[in-house]
Amino acid sequence: MAGRSQDKLNSAMREVQSAGIKGSLSIVQLDVTDEQSIKEAARRVHEEHGRLDVLVNNAAAGNIDPDAKTRFTISLTTNVIGPAMLAEAFRPLLLGGDNPYSVYVSSGTGSLSMAADPAGVTYFPNEDAYRASKAALNMVAIKEWKDFGSKGLKVFAFCPGFVISNIRGTSEDARTGGGKAGDPMVSGQSLLDIIEGRRDADDGKFVHKDGVYPW
Ligand SMILES: NC(=O)c1ccc[n+]([C@@H]2O[C@H](COP(=O)([O-])OP(=O)(O)OC[C@H]3O[C@@H](n4cnc5c(N)ncnc54)[C@H](OP(=O)(O)O)[C@@H]3O)[C@@H](O)[C@H]2O)c1
Repeated sequence: MAGRSQDKLNSAMREVQSAGIKGSLSIVQLDVTDEQSIKEAARRVHEEHGRLDVLVNNAAAGNIDPDAKTRFTISLTTNVIGPAMLAEAFRPLLLGGDNPYSVYVSSGTGSLSMAADPAGVTYFPNEDAYRASKAALNMVAIKEWKDFGSKGLKVFAFCPGFVISNIRGTSEDARTGGGKAGDPMVSGQSLLDIIEGRRDADDGKFVHKDGVYPW
């Protein structure tokens, strides 16, 4: 489990352990915008485990700053360049395994087809940068699937659905999307379905809990 804040990692680890979940868990500090920390994390995983079965690129920023340069820079740096660097650094470890998975946590808001639909929805102000970043992330996923699918790597872009989290801000209203956001445990279950092979028929696609989104 990776994260940029050691304190948050420690408390998340305590939470998982106190839930009595079986298995072992290690934490590694990693900032997806910091190439050195990515390389160091990959080195550690290589040294301590020798291979990687699943990489979930989950980190993202939901920046809606009124200044276009600010929100585009933050969104593209964290949501596109970071996952692309991460995927590149960890890919040799993935390709060393028997049945590797690479999952990019994207968003239905990044679907170009759905955005271009005249009936398509605007979800929040200044959403252009976040949505553009998820569209670009989808291309990163497509390219990885095209380039490494033949080497056995299964690649998914995955939308976790509209669920409670900090991505819209930390106030109660923002976290719950005005009370409309769903339970992130459901997103976790859908992710587990991917990495345990129950979505293998959708390899190379943009999946969500109930099916597949158009790119
Ligand atoms: N929640 C939704 O409704 C929804 C809908 C569609 C897609 N998604 C996607 O789901 C994924 C998870 O987001 P979430 O909803 O759980 O939001 P979240 O609570 O804001 O989680 C995002 C995580 O990314 C981490 N992060 C941000 N910048 C980072 C960096 N530079 N290096 C390392 N970690 C970094 C954050 O770490 P810190 O805790 O240190 O800030 C945080 O733990 C994202 O890809 C998001 O776009 C969410």
